Amino acid sequence: MATSGQLMAAEIAEQPEVWRRILAEGNQQFDAAAKTIIDYNPRHVLFVARGTSDHAALYAKYLTEIVQQRPAGLVSPSTMTAYGARPDLRGVLMIGISQSGGSPDLVQSLHVAREQGALTVAVTNQPDSPLARTAAINIDLMAGPERAVAATKSYTAQLLALYLLIDRVTGGDGNAAEALPDLGDTLLKQNDRVAALAQRYLFASRLVSTARGYSYPTAREAALKLMETSYLSAQAFSGADLLHGPLAMIEPQVPVLTVIGEGVGGRAMSQVLPRLKEQGADVFCVGTPEAVAAASVGVELPAGAHETLAPLLEIIPFQQLALHLAIARGGNPDSPRGLRKVTETY
Ligand code: F6R
Repeated sequence: MATSGQLMAAEIAEQPEVWRRILAEGNQQFDAAAKTIIDYNPRHVLFVARGTSDHAALYAKYLTEIVQQRPAGLVSPSTMTAYGARPDLRGVLMIGISQSGGSPDLVQSLHVAREQGALTVAVTNQPDSPLARTAAINIDLMAGPERAVAATKSYTAQLLALYLLIDRVTGGDGNAAEALPDLGDTLLKQNDRVAALAQRYLFASRLVSTARGYSYPTAREAALKLMETSYLSAQAFSGADLLHGPLAMIEPQVPVLTVIGEGVGGRAMSQVLPRLKEQGADVFCVGTPEAVAAASVGVELPAGAHETLAPLLEIIPFQQLALHLAIARGGNPDSPRGLRKVTETY
């Protein structure tokens, strides 16, 4: 009989291998896609995705706005599906991101976008999926079959693929990402420590996650992983938004998960951490040694990844936390109640 969480554990551990594959075998598809995008010269970039893939989209939105210096946004799929909107999308690059490439609303959004004049790209783990067939360009995530319901390796594959695509579009050669797989291997060794830390949250019924900049998608994804595997109520806020009101609900019984790494986003969190402590918060921090020392508990990130690439690493301890907490609470994170691997929404 399969052990609880076996699939999720294996897929978490597989991530550096997936990144090595993308880095070694992905050049041609990124070069070709980047050339088409450069020739098209989009004025705006829009992303469409759901769930975990939406968090990869949020990461890519930061990259597009900061590195590519183009306006970017996240599409609400219902505007083009349920509401039937037909906006003029000439000059828009529309990127659909989906592990499965199977949700009808995403397929319909890319279909409409293409009809309305956008250049469309699908980023999927299924090159023969409806989404991939609908888009003008398909980026294959090469993550191998993902069998656990909770997406892990497909998420960081999406982050890396989007990084490499945007890097190519802005004239880069992807070199900065070469160090990631080894850093990932180093971080994965913290697994037993995270398993021990998971005991701390055995009876938590709600928690808050927070970060800024490139790490904000990590906070969102950490909250989603904990909700779907461990059935607790987890809310994610940008560190700035937290200070604009929700901070008031923080108390010692509401654990806070945070990412405070090197770079602008991590530095911006220096405004948030003291306020959390004033509220008596129990803080689990993934980040620099200084930030972890200032928190209640945490996991240090290995040095060597630029802020733009750190999200691939930062999520790993939270994936491990979701896995171990679910098991400790008697659940099976490979098959969360009420969920299927492919969710079809319209
Ligand atoms: C979370 C999870 C879901 C999916 C979402 C989109 O672990 O798996 O949130 O990310 O249903 O699925 P895809 O990426 O297949 O479109």
